[in-house]
Amino acid sequence: MENKTKPNGSATLSVGGKSLDLPVLSGSVGPDVIDVKSLYAQTGMFTLDPGFTSTASCESQITYIDGDEGVLLYRGYPIDQLADNSSFLEVCYLLLNGELPNAAELDEYTNTITHHTMLHTQFDRFFEGYRRDAHPMAVMVGTVGALSAFYHDSTDINDPMQRMIATHRLIAKMPTIAARAHKYSVGQPFVSPRNDLSYSENFLRMCFAVPAEDYEVNPVLAKAMDKIFILHADHEQNASTSTVRLAGSSGANPFACIAAGIACLWGPSHGGANEAALNMLREIGSVDKIPEYVKRAKDKDDPFRLMGFGHRVYKNYDPRAKVMQQTCHEVLDVLDKRDEPLLQVAMELEKIALEDEYFVSKKLYPNIDFYSGITLNALGFPTEMYTVLFALARTVGWIAQWEEMTTDPTQRIGRPRQVYTGATERNYVPLDKR
Ligand code: CMC
Repeated sequence: MENKTKPNGSATLSVGGKSLDLPVLSGSVGPDVIDVKSLYAQTGMFTLDPGFTSTASCESQITYIDGDEGVLLYRGYPIDQLADNSSFLEVCYLLLNGELPNAAELDEYTNTITHHTMLHTQFDRFFEGYRRDAHPMAVMVGTVGALSAFYHDSTDINDPMQRMIATHRLIAKMPTIAARAHKYSVGQPFVSPRNDLSYSENFLRMCFAVPAEDYEVNPVLAKAMDKIFILHADHEQNASTSTVRLAGSSGANPFACIAAGIACLWGPSHGGANEAALNMLREIGSVDKIPEYVKRAKDKDDPFRLMGFGHRVYKNYDPRAKVMQQTCHEVLDVLDKRDEPLLQVAMELEKIALEDEYFVSKKLYPNIDFYSGITLNALGFPTEMYTVLFALARTVGWIAQWEEMTTDPTQRIGRPRQVYTGATERNYVPLDKR
């Protein structure tokens, strides 16, 4: 990656009686940054920013978010335009290469991905090692990490060609692994990929076909699946992406780095929120119970939060949530489930929360996870699979960010510091004296 930040003056910091000029840098759009790289050398002090609320960890050219305006761009293209007009593999190509493919490039790319979807037969034994009631995200963390055992010798991260093959393998094999995680949890035989189907059609079939009956792929549902993948494909330096970058900064095997990203994604504050949001809607159950839950969400002494609401960056409606809400209606329409009680609860909850002073003043809006659970539920996925689908789609973002980091000339191993508040040096006390 070619570094492109431009100098834009300096910021003066007064500390310990000294005045220090720190360079200010501009990107192509978005807030400027103060370059504090030299701070420690010049002052012997670190900056403290737990949760990274004011810290840019890298320069990137992949995804841009304007949280106040509710804007999300992949390589400059608005997310709603991509969701309406492109396919997931087109978006993968865009994220990885920086430009939309022409027809020949897209054909070639689709063909390459399609021909990497199978797993080594030995790979299936990893699934058998899990308890049959294992959470599919636990299965994903382990099995995706296990890919590194199959491709370690052929993944020289200094060779662009080998890195590219690793990205193809990850994007192609993720649906096969995710579908197997589902099949394993429901006790059904694995279904092999088929090359005559699109990425999303193939995934739905691998999840829902059984030996006794093939799965007839409904084009509206396949399109909805593809849109859901597009919406989740990347989201700049979120927790799991930063995890992948940090793991990769040591030069670790990329398949293992993606497994680290999956582990981070699992938590309910991040990718696990889609599962938590649907469980919450089920718990609320009916429109008349909503005020009780809204009251709990506002109570400082109650840890309950409205899942699928709020975001670290978006202080406006999450642009992905808008598309997801529309997709949700399309799926429920085609499945004749317009009266789905969960949708009624969600729509009423959204209405009440958007008018409530607590949510308005804290700028808490529905995020992507609010409507994704209802949609995935209608598509036939059990709740445990929701975060798996997020991981499947986010793999392209993780690997594109990993690739960008690997080729960034300023890249160094990630190594944050701390402010230490523990015991100062003291002498060891022998066991019989304690
Ligand atoms: N319900 C009730 N109150 C909330 C909520 C919520 N969902 N989210 C934030 N708040 C309150 C919070 O209590 C705090 O209040 P106060 O200032 O009085 O202490 C204030 O809003 C700011 O919250 P925060 O936790 O400091 O904000 P954050 O930026 O650290 O957290 C978040 C962002 C997404 C973790 C949080 O909004 C949350 O827990 N939401 C529910 C989980 C969720 O839906 N996560 C999915 C995120 S989108 C998918 C993804 O990209 O991973």
